[in-house]
Amino acid sequence: MNILVSAHSGLRYIVLLLLVVAIVNAVSNLKSGQYLKKDKMINLFAMIFLHIQLLLGLILYFTSPKVQFVEGMMANASLRFFDVEHPLLMILGILLITLGRKKAEKQEDPSIKHKLILRYYLLGLIIIFIGIPWPFTHPTLGTGWF
Ligand code: HEM
Repeated sequence: MNILVSAHSGLRYIVLLLLVVAIVNAVSNLKSGQYLKKDKMINLFAMIFLHIQLLLGLILYFTSPKVQFVEGMMANASLRFFDVEHPLLMILGILLITLGRKKAEKQEDPSIKHKLILRYYLLGLIIIFIGIPWPFTHPTLGTGWF
């Protein structure tokens, strides 16, 4: 249980880093006229780690004491966050990135591929960043940096 929370917590940095790498890679190759195997791998890698994070999150959702469905839960900031806000934002972000990658892979034009990755991964990254219980955005939740 504790190890799962630690893994889920630490993986946030790997996920964020991989998304930033994929976005920077898309921007710097927008006008290259090429979509190489390494581009495909960078985008795929970011998505795989996101899905591992999703899996850990889902396990935590059914085991964590921070997720409780009780009367008045929506009036309790901590319960509302872990019951509803955090999972909804994260699933939305992951869905957008998964969809964007699918769309990009279907396209023939390399610059459209990079453009789609840029748009969807950036939007997903922003949503995921907002959904993380950072100590500076959610100081009352008692979550840390690791
Ligand atoms: C990219 C996706 C995600 C990221 C970056 C992320 C990040 C985090 C972070 C940083 C924490 C705080 C851990 C701590 O106490 O230090 C957390 C907690 C939690 N997350 Fe996520 N999460 C993601 C997706 C999800 C999803 C999809 C779910 C559920 C469906 C979920 C469920 C939970 C739960 C239940 C906790 C509370 C665990 C506990 O402390 O007992 N997460 N998440």
